[in-house]
Amino acid sequence: FHRYVPFGTVDLPDRTWPSKVITQAPRWLSTDLRDGNQALIDPMSPARKRKMFDLLVKLGYKEIEVGFPSSGATDFNFVRSLIEEGAIPEDVTISVLTQAREDLIERTVESLKGAPRATVHLYNATSPLFRRVVFKASKDEIKAIATDGTRLVMEYAEKILGDETVFGYEYSPEIFIDTELDYALEVCEAVMDVWQPGEGREIILNLPTTVERSTPNVYADKIEWMSRNLSRRQFVCVSAHPHNDRGTGVASAELAIMAGADRVEGCLFGQGERTGNLDLVNVGMNLFSQGVDPMIDFSDIDEIRRTAEYCNQMPVPERHPYAGDLVFTSFSGSHQDAIKKGFDALEADAAAAGVPVADHTWGVPYLPIDPKDVGRSYEAVIRVNSQSGKGGIAYVLKNDHKLDLPRRMQIEFSKIIQAKTDAEGGEVTPGDIWAVFQDEYLPT
Ligand code: KIV
Ligand code: ZN
Repeated sequence: FHRYVPFGTVDLPDRTWPSKVITQAPRWLSTDLRDGNQALIDPMSPARKRKMFDLLVKLGYKEIEVGFPSSGATDFNFVRSLIEEGAIPEDVTISVLTQAREDLIERTVESLKGAPRATVHLYNATSPLFRRVVFKASKDEIKAIATDGTRLVMEYAEKILGDETVFGYEYSPEIFIDTELDYALEVCEAVMDVWQPGEGREIILNLPTTVERSTPNVYADKIEWMSRNLSRRQFVCVSAHPHNDRGTGVASAELAIMAGADRVEGCLFGQGERTGNLDLVNVGMNLFSQGVDPMIDFSDIDEIRRTAEYCNQMPVPERHPYAGDLVFTSFSGSHQDAIKKGFDALEADAAAAGVPVADHTWGVPYLPIDPKDVGRSYEAVIRVNSQSGKGGIAYVLKNDHKLDLPRRMQIEFSKIIQAKTDAEGGEVTPGDIWAVFQDEYLPT
C-alpha cells in the first residue's frame, strides 16, 4: 500500500452540490457502441451493432456515440450504413470519436457525410502522467494538440459536410480527474476560443474520470469548480464521463449531476473499459425510484438485458441493480414475512384511498421499487429454501392459489417445508410447495 498515494481534495469550501437534490434527468449519451464496444472480448459485428443502436433508439436515447470510424473499416462502415439506410431518427444525434491527428479527423468527418445531425468528439490526454510519460510534451504543446484538432474538425466539417448536417462538437481532456484543474480550464477555454460557442452554437465539454481514482466527492468538486469557472457557461454542455474502477461510477455520476453536470455518458449495464463505464440503467432507474422521470423506457428490463447480453456477448450479473435475476427476490424468513405484510398493507391502503394498487405510493419492505415497473412479475419476489419462513410459504400459497392460511397453519406447514429443505438442500418451487400441501391437507 505504501506505493499508492491518497488522492488530493479540491479547495472549494463553498461547494453547493452536497445540498442538492436531482429533480430532473440529465441529457444522456450512450457510448455502448464506442467505449463499450472497444472493451469487448468479441467486438460487435455490424449486425450486433445495429441491434444495439435500434435498442438505444427504442429506449429513448437521443445522443448515441456510434463508433471510432478512423479506427478501422468495421466502425467506418457501420456509421455509413446507419446514414445510408436512414436508420437515424430525426431527433437522434450520432456522435463519433477521434484523436487529434489530421488524417484521422478527415476520415472521421468523411464517415458522417449525409448524416442529419452529428457530433465529432475529439479527445487528447492532458494529465501530468500522460504529458510526461506518454507524450513527453509540455503543457503548451498538449494544449496546441487540442486547439489544432478543434480547428481541423471545423475545417473538414465545413468542407465535407457543409450545410447538410446539423453539426456539433465535443471535446474531452482525457483523464480529467488527474489533470490540474486550472490547466484543464485553460485547455477547455482555448478550445472554446477556436470553436466560438454562442447562441445556437453549443460546445460539449466532457470531463472524464477515464480511470476512476478519486472518491466521488472529489469528482463532484471538480465538476462544480469547472462549471463555475468556465466562461460562456450558458453555451457549454458540461458532460460527466465516469468509469467504475473503484466501483463508484454511479455515485460519481449522481454527485456530478448535483454539482452541475448537464449530461452523463455511459453504457447499458456498465459495459466498458476494465470495470466498465458508468451504468446508464442503474443511474436512470435510481432517478425513477426517486420519482424523477429518466426519459428512458426501462419498462421491460428483461428484454433490454437479453438484447445487451446478445450484443455484448457478456452476461448481466444476477445481482445487478434493477436487472439481475435475484434483485427482487428474498429467501430469508424475516424478509419474506415483512414483504408479505407490506403487500397486504399496500392492498388495504390502496383500497382505502380508492386507487388501483399500481397507482398507490410504493412502500413494501425490502423492495426498493415495484418489480412490475420494470416488467417483472411478483412470482420471483419470494423463493423458498432452508432460510425461509412461514411468511414466504404463506405468500406463495396466497399468490398462486388464493389460499389465506391461518397463522397456526402457516407455522405448522412451514415446519414441514423446512424439514424438506433441510433434508434435501436447495430450493423448493411453488409447484413443490403445492404438492406437499396437497399431500398433507388435501388427500384424495
Ligand atoms: O474515458 C475516457 O477518457 C474516454 C475519452 C475518450 C472520452 O472514453
Ligand atoms: Zn471512457
